[in-house]
Amino acid sequence: MSHSASPAKPLTAKACGPLRGKARPPGDKSISHRAFLLGLLSVGETRVSGLLEGEDVLNTGRACAQLGAKIERLGEGSWSIHGMGLGSLLEPRETLDFGNAGTGSRLMMGVVGGHGITARFDGDASLRKRPMRRILDPLVLMGAQVLEQAEGGRCPILLKGTSEPAPIEYRTPVASAQIKSAVLLAGLNALGRTTVIETEASRDHTEKMLTYFGATLTSEPFGEHGRKITLEGRPELKPRPIVVPVDPSSAAFLIAAALLVKESDIVVEGVMMNPLRTGLLTTLLEMGARIDILDRREEGGEEVADLRVRHSELTGVDVPAARAPAMIDEYLILAVVAGFARGLTRMNGLQELRVKESDRLAATADGLVANGVVAHIEGDDLIVEGGAGTCPGGGLVATHLDHRLAMSFLVMGLASDKPVTVDDETMIATSFPTFKPLMAQLGAEFSA
Ligand code: S3P
Repeated sequence: MSHSASPAKPLTAKACGPLRGKARPPGDKSISHRAFLLGLLSVGETRVSGLLEGEDVLNTGRACAQLGAKIERLGEGSWSIHGMGLGSLLEPRETLDFGNAGTGSRLMMGVVGGHGITARFDGDASLRKRPMRRILDPLVLMGAQVLEQAEGGRCPILLKGTSEPAPIEYRTPVASAQIKSAVLLAGLNALGRTTVIETEASRDHTEKMLTYFGATLTSEPFGEHGRKITLEGRPELKPRPIVVPVDPSSAAFLIAAALLVKESDIVVEGVMMNPLRTGLLTTLLEMGARIDILDRREEGGEEVADLRVRHSELTGVDVPAARAPAMIDEYLILAVVAGFARGLTRMNGLQELRVKESDRLAATADGLVANGVVAHIEGDDLIVEGGAGTCPGGGLVATHLDHRLAMSFLVMGLASDKPVTVDDETMIATSFPTFKPLMAQLGAEFSA
């Protein structure tokens, strides 16, 4: 079921005492989506532990089942997937409904595009606004056909894949792991090599997981910040156990709350430290955040660490555009943090934020202003003037079906002078269903 139909539930956060204790946020959303998809594409049983049981990921699981996978929940975060294997997917009888999930829908378009099946893709009001041409364009080059689409290449989309996708070399027009992944997933079924070139490196979970499942893939530097990825088609994908590490994009809310609420001292456990996901951490450390990176170790093929986070006096910084791919989902919470820093924070090159679950650039600036923070947009940059340790608050924030907007402004309310209300908390369940209990465990207070 899409969220568009469920009634909005406002939620208010008010100033709380120090946050204390340890918490482990749920599994990474990107890796969880890919776990279902690779499970579908390999023959035999894939066991997953630590899967994020958020609505977005569960919708991807349902879509994989519609394409023939047998999926079973064995316990909390523990799942079994019996895949059909590459080249053997079933044509779904019903629409694939991805709800709010851009990642699930776009990666699955890649899978369908490289198979001789036809599928209808749809989702909630937010997903229906998001651009899909960026995914469909390379798939059409590979031989897929877009039979139906809403205006501007949007969902609902009827996509007819091809059982013999052409191996292509494709340069992504924007730094996007979703575009890269869709092309690679379609290229799995190609007779020959598929190459994706990105001029700014984006998250590499698809590449890592495909290699782990037995595909032959190379990834080499391209230019100053880019990568060139080459995949040999028609690999025999073998199921492997997947341990999903903690999502740094969800951990970000706990980290920010502890930095802002006075006298806080918490430990966020097992956070994934993949360098293509740690842009926020780099930025916070530059701002003067007291974050200790403890017990670096490996879990499920990724480096993880425990992060001790203490309340900090922060200073505004200039965030380079080149860092955007490594923190693309974290600008909202960074903007909130910047509202409490001393001086100006300038976040450069945020054009991609306009096409996320909401227009995050406009919505973040609006939310800041509604809470008495001086903020404005200059071209594609967001400029925030911090309150040197305080922030007025007192605003009502429109969340536009965007989970991260809701969580970011709830974190603001934990440290602002007056409470902050978000107009709808329901979307939080798409990525972080345990957000409220985990925050409450640390000492945060929310009221309906
Ligand atoms: C994701 C890639 C990013 C990110 C999204 C998850 C992924 O999107 O915003 O939340 O799992 O590949 P883009 O690749 O479109 O920037």
